Amino acid sequence: MKLSSVYHYLHSDLQTIEKELEKTISAEHPLLQEASLHILQAGGKRIRPLFVLLAAKYGKYDIHHVKNVAAALELIHMASLVHDDVIDDASIRRGKSTIKAKWDNKVAIYTGDYIFAKSLELMSIYDDPNVHMTLSNTMVELVLGEVQQIKEKFDYEQNCRAYLRRIKRKTALLIAASCELGAMTAKAPAHTCKCLYWFGYNVGMAFQITDDILDFVGNEKTLGKPAGSDLRQGHITLPVLYALEDLNIKNEIIGLSEDSSKDEFDHVINYIKKSSAIKQSVKVSDLYLQKAIRILDTLPKSKANASLRQVVSFIGKRKF
Ligand code: IPE
Ligand code: IPE
Ligand code: MG
Ligand code: MG
Repeated sequence: MKLSSVYHYLHSDLQTIEKELEKTISAEHPLLQEASLHILQAGGKRIRPLFVLLAAKYGKYDIHHVKNVAAALELIHMASLVHDDVIDDASIRRGKSTIKAKWDNKVAIYTGDYIFAKSLELMSIYDDPNVHMTLSNTMVELVLGEVQQIKEKFDYEQNCRAYLRRIKRKTALLIAASCELGAMTAKAPAHTCKCLYWFGYNVGMAFQITDDILDFVGNEKTLGKPAGSDLRQGHITLPVLYALEDLNIKNEIIGLSEDSSKDEFDHVINYIKKSSAIKQSVKVSDLYLQKAIRILDTLPKSKANASLRQVVSFIGKRKF
């Protein structure tokens, strides 16, 4: 992973956040604690806390003040993954069994709710109502994104705009909020907070498009979750939307439903993997990354600015 120099730069502060995360989810109830620790200790890139810290560098940086919002954003992300794995019936996450697989769906729902609630507890140290409004709006949008995703399963009529709206809600806005809230809680100038929000939005769009590409071209070992599962679940992601324009595969794609066989899915997935739909999707992701870089160009040069560029380049290289 090329993020190592950024992790190195923030090493001790990220460790502080790790401790905060562990402390926060230590529960009164042994099962909630065990299940929460299970997903926490399974790893993950901690990319949202990383964005919070780097954005906070644009204000008065104090790790003891910013650590709560950094940990809270990771918890919101984690909770949404725990619930997402119930919706997607997923058995592997971060290279380990999912909570729903190791325990059951009920435990996963309770644990997700518990982790969400704990993130709010962490946020209670901030007295700026704008911080809380930003976060709650983001959480509402995230849920709307997941609901939209369920509604649009196996819907081959949907256009690119529906897809972009969905990934904005379920992923990009949380990354945008990570950047904005890092800057806001560190009392960075309002204009800087907005720039970082737009930076995070563009990075977040590219991040989800890349995740959707990797679902076709990646493998379980590097992803920590099985590849090729989005389409089987009916999720029409950007590579599929491009492939639908290809008359050599269009009919096979629109013939896919919940009742299709493994072979039928395998055939389409293998086709898309090798098709130009992947390259076309990479191009869209790159456009978002370029926009993100242009926003960084307008912000003062600093170590944090250079690190944010490294994160952008990491996302750009993830697909190769
Ligand atoms: C996975 O997010 C879900 C998406 C929004 C694409 P991450 O790729 O950040 O997952 P972890 O935290 O590293 O496991
Ligand atoms: C991200 O979407 C999930 C959430 C934002 C909750 P995905 O469904 O693509 O995430 P993975 O692929 O399961 O990690
Ligand atoms: Mg999923
Ligand atoms: Mg995915």
